[in-house]
Amino acid sequence: MGTNFILDLAKRRKTVRRFSSTQVNLKDVLVALETACQAPSGANSQPWRFVVITNSQIKGKIREICERIEREFYSKVNGELREWLLARGFSWKKPFLEEAPVLVLILSETKAPYSTESVWLAIGYILLALEELNLGTVTYTPSNAKGVLDEVDVPDGFRLEAILPIGVSTDEKSKEPRLSLDEVTYMNSWGRSVSTL
Ligand SMILES: Cc1cc2nc3c(=O)[nH]c(=O)nc-3n(C[C@H](O)[C@H](O)[C@H](O)COP(=O)(O)O)c2cc1C
Repeated sequence: MGTNFILDLAKRRKTVRRFSSTQVNLKDVLVALETACQAPSGANSQPWRFVVITNSQIKGKIREICERIEREFYSKVNGELREWLLARGFSWKKPFLEEAPVLVLILSETKAPYSTESVWLAIGYILLALEELNLGTVTYTPSNAKGVLDEVDVPDGFRLEAILPIGVSTDEKSKEPRLSLDEVTYMNSWGRSVSTL
């Protein structure tokens, strides 16, 4: 690794959708969640809540609920999004919800200011922390979460922002390409390149 530790981690990280059955040290997952707790949040409301799931039956149930929702979604989606999904081999099937040794439900407390923004920022911390621990994940975002929330008794007032299946990667898919810094950054006014700095 070079001197820009976070940059190196961010460059190395990619989404993982296939997991080995190797067990995960739960302490590592907790370290990643503790990292998330250090994220900034609107009015320091800390609206993140986590439900860590290792029980196979519960994971199976969550997969079943999500796949039911995904089937409906895939039957309706069309246009560019459909092309994008098909080109990447995505379908309603979500085996990673059962294959990953650990699932973490990421919830936000809806009454908190900027709850979604804050929680997604915290998710970014989790992704980098997991990368440092050589664990992989995908920020899976089911379109309708009611069944999942009921399955683990989440009370009213919380939204499911994402499910993170966590485990050791067997995913050979490469990282999606990125725009260069120069393509997305301007100096002092729109369109003025930073590449000459
Ligand atoms: C807000 C958000 C929602 C996402 N939802 C899903 C999802 O539901 N299913 C999935 O397989 N990947 C999901 N992803 C992962 C993206 O597809 C992935 O990060 C992107 O294609 C770039 O690939 P990379 O992470 O390997 O660089 C999501 C990512 C973000 C940030």
